[in-house]
Amino acid sequence: MRQHMVVANWKMNGSRGAVGHLLRGLNSSMQSPRCDVILAPGYLHIDQVSRELTLTGVSLAGQNCSEYSDGPYTGEVSAKMLADSGCKWVILGHSERRQYHGETNEVIASKIELACSENLGVIYCVGETITQRDSGDAQSVVREQLLTALNSSINEESRIVIAYEPVWAIGTGLTASPNEAQIMHSYIRENLRSIEAINAEDTVILYGGSVNAVNANDFFSQVDIDGVLVGGASLDAEAFCRIVDMATLKREN
Ligand code: PGA
Repeated sequence: MRQHMVVANWKMNGSRGAVGHLLRGLNSSMQSPRCDVILAPGYLHIDQVSRELTLTGVSLAGQNCSEYSDGPYTGEVSAKMLADSGCKWVILGHSERRQYHGETNEVIASKIELACSENLGVIYCVGETITQRDSGDAQSVVREQLLTALNSSINEESRIVIAYEPVWAIGTGLTASPNEAQIMHSYIRENLRSIEAINAEDTVILYGGSVNAVNANDFFSQVDIDGVLVGGASLDAEAFCRIVDMATLKREN
């Protein structure tokens, strides 16, 4: 059975003070979670989160890693560095990386391969732009993102979670309807069946894009939605804890 998962993507937000405040909120409001909870702070805050988070059962993720293993790549952070800093996961292929840093499916495939070689689990983000959706290309875009990046880079040992994040829903307050998301999630699972190294039925598929404490439950009620990737609302400890509680309840029902 698939374990439910809630991932917080803090993006490029926070200071040591703000992160401390958020962690105090999480420490006091979250019971030890009975679903997988993953926090992705900015690189400079990873160590602070490991030291100050008192909850058990919460893992850390990097928000990205380099496509190179090490060497003269000024400003980059490698998969090995993330693993060495206590991360168990890394988010790859986020649309903000694709959009602002020109990451292609091929570049992301290299990153996935390196992350897996460091035993990091990969939260691989896919999703279409509004233009692609309006022109009827949403499914083919997502299929291409899945097949190009995963086919060449993983093996049976790899831990892969897929996050479907329609680009037009990220940070906009718009979401796919739960039914639209379910249709895409089921399509994603269908395509995962063609990737040899993946067990499609056991693969966790998250929805992301303007998820908050009000709408999260609607997504959890869909059969192929196994959790959520939360950006903005994850910066509010109370809202994030409510989302984690919903994921737990869904698991237990
Ligand atoms: P959002 O971001 O929840 O702020 O829309 C989600 C994401 O980009 O992962």
